[in-house]
Amino acid sequence: MASHVVASADELGPGERKVVQVEGREVGVFNVDGEYYAYSNWCAHQSGPVCEGSVTGTYEATFDRDTLEYELEWSEEGHILNCPWHGWEYDVRDGECLSREKVRLPSYPVTVTDGEIVVEL
Ligand code: FES
Repeated sequence: MASHVVASADELGPGERKVVQVEGREVGVFNVDGEYYAYSNWCAHQSGPVCEGSVTGTYEATFDRDTLEYELEWSEEGHILNCPWHGWEYDVRDGECLSREKVRLPSYPVTVTDGEIVVEL
């Protein structure tokens, strides 16, 4: 495993992301509420460029079996990465797929050292 400087912390503010090439791989680096995360730019569905998708929220549904009524509530704004090809959703804070329990984006350790964002791979 080697360390790679991918950006300065100043250039990647909260809510921003950057897709970089590291050792021939595309890696998406995200700043979410001041925490940094890095993922392979590879969607588990059909290999789409997931890290280029929008970062939004998602709808959570609740269903009442007695009344057969349901409610949709928008939540997790700024925490959900949407694959641009078919819309699979991932939590950008841990890479977990919202609709597939055992699916997770491949991730890389990220640190900030002397104002530089460093990814290990
Ligand atoms: S390739 Fe990402 S949702 Fe299909």
